[in-house]
Amino acid sequence: MSARADLDHLRRSQRLDLAAVELDYEGFRALAANPHLSAHEKIGFPDAYREGFEQAILTDICAKLPMLREAEGRTVVDIGPGCAALPRMLVDLCRDRRHRLVLVDSPEMLALLPDIDGVTLKQPGLFPKNAAAVRETAASPADALICYSVLHYIYIDSNLFDFVDATVNLLAPGGQALIGDIPNVSKRRRFFATERGQAFHRQFTGSTEPHEVRWAEPCPGKIDDAVLLGLMQRAQGAGCDAYLLPQPAGLPMANRRDDLLIVKP
Ligand SMILES: C[S@@+](CC[C@H](N)C(=O)[O-])C[C@H]1O[C@@H](n2cnc3c(N)ncnc32)[C@H](O)[C@@H]1O
Repeated sequence: MSARADLDHLRRSQRLDLAAVELDYEGFRALAANPHLSAHEKIGFPDAYREGFEQAILTDICAKLPMLREAEGRTVVDIGPGCAALPRMLVDLCRDRRHRLVLVDSPEMLALLPDIDGVTLKQPGLFPKNAAAVRETAASPADALICYSVLHYIYIDSNLFDFVDATVNLLAPGGQALIGDIPNVSKRRRFFATERGQAFHRQFTGSTEPHEVRWAEPCPGKIDDAVLLGLMQRAQGAGCDAYLLPQPAGLPMANRRDDLLIVKP
């Protein structure tokens, strides 16, 4: 079943097989409104995928965007914060460091996050279509922009080159954007083609069947090396530096995900 085919089911169902639904912005809106789901489920993750990992994820984000902890009084933008522990920890960090944090997500998702005077600003809507409104709400260019575990959904709804253009436009000189936790189907294939990958698959699924890796065929709707390199070149062409970074091995999906860092000189 595709989430896009049955939003009502996502909005009301007490039991959802999240691994089987194809989510997009509207699908997440429906999950956010479903009173039966945990915060992790509302952002599309079975609890086991995220529970207990958020501190390590935030530590990795801060290592890649050091100004979050090292500076004070900056402008931070979070595209697709969701409603689980990660944005709450980011709100706390921004309050401590006196940053202003612009949260960009659906109205349903934003309603689940705290409102803190002088810290949080909320801009509902689908990014990058609402990029002009985000810029207006932020009032000043972003010193740091975070978009974590969201790019593969933006790929479904929008043009990713428009996403890069809008991100570069939002950044202040010296500003950095971390587009994190991107599922890269090429990296996934490389990993599952190895014996370590096969052993991981056996342990994860409980199956003894070999996991077939299919090469040299189209992967519609999936991000691969070519898409990532294209996005890097787009950012470089717009005057930024761009880097593809690994995740620490302890993060839940490090063996098949990449992080993209865009830095405005
Ligand atoms: C998998 S969740 C990730 C949440 C959070 N960043 C985290 O890692 O805990 C994806 C989030 O992105 C939001 N989202 C998806 N597409 C978006 C878009 N085009 N603009 C803004 N938010 C979007 C969804 O509503 C959802 O809250």
